[in-house]
Amino acid sequence: MLDDAALDLILRKARTHNAWRDRPVTDDDIRRIYDLMKWGPTSANMCPARFVFVRSPEAKEKLAPALSSGNLDKTMAAPATAVIGYDVRFFERMDYLFPHNAAMGDIFRNDPAAAEDAGFRNGTLQGAYFMIAARSLGFDIGAMSGFDKGRVDAAFFAGTSVKANFLCNIGHGDESVLFERHPRLDFDDACRFA
Ligand SMILES: Cc1cc2nc3c(=O)[nH]c(=O)nc-3n(C[C@H](O)[C@H](O)[C@H](O)COP(=O)(O)O)c2cc1C
Repeated sequence: MLDDAALDLILRKARTHNAWRDRPVTDDDIRRIYDLMKWGPTSANMCPARFVFVRSPEAKEKLAPALSSGNLDKTMAAPATAVIGYDVRFFERMDYLFPHNAAMGDIFRNDPAAAEDAGFRNGTLQGAYFMIAARSLGFDIGAMSGFDKGRVDAAFFAGTSVKANFLCNIGHGDESVLFERHPRLDFDDACRFA
């Protein structure tokens, strides 16, 4: 198993960051994060998540009007912001992703509600894998759901079958401005054996 330092890095001491140190996040950094997170499991290996990495000032300007006021400044300041979406037509790639059972894709092709449900569930999981992968490679992240989905879809996914799920700033966080950490539910509050 991982040692304590690794467990601290990805979960126990990892924080959601709102301020960023002046260190860039390169194309290569983002590719390394993707190439690690892509191995996380999804139902029937459907891999519905799609990512747009917003880094240029022009792309940040496209994103800005969609952000809630509390998410605006930190996102404009972040070295990179992932728009994490999910493709409701993920089944178009299942010949490649799930080649031993081509009929699986047709189940979703013929049932848009099931495709939405599975796409959202598995795309969200992949977003979580993305956050853990980024942390395990030494980056900090700050996820956000405070934004206008319609505006983000229009700005980044127009003409596609991809829908925005959540946003995630990526960089090297400034620990000096973190809030005190909030508690989590204890095992007995959140779990039971059956
Ligand atoms: C999917 C998701 C959406 C979130 N949305 C926002 C948001 O819109 N704005 C914000 O300031 N924080 C947002 N957060 C941050 C959470 O409030 C934060 O992760 C939580 O309080 C735990 O903080 P910690 O990681 O520092 O312990 C979001 C986190 C997640 C995972």
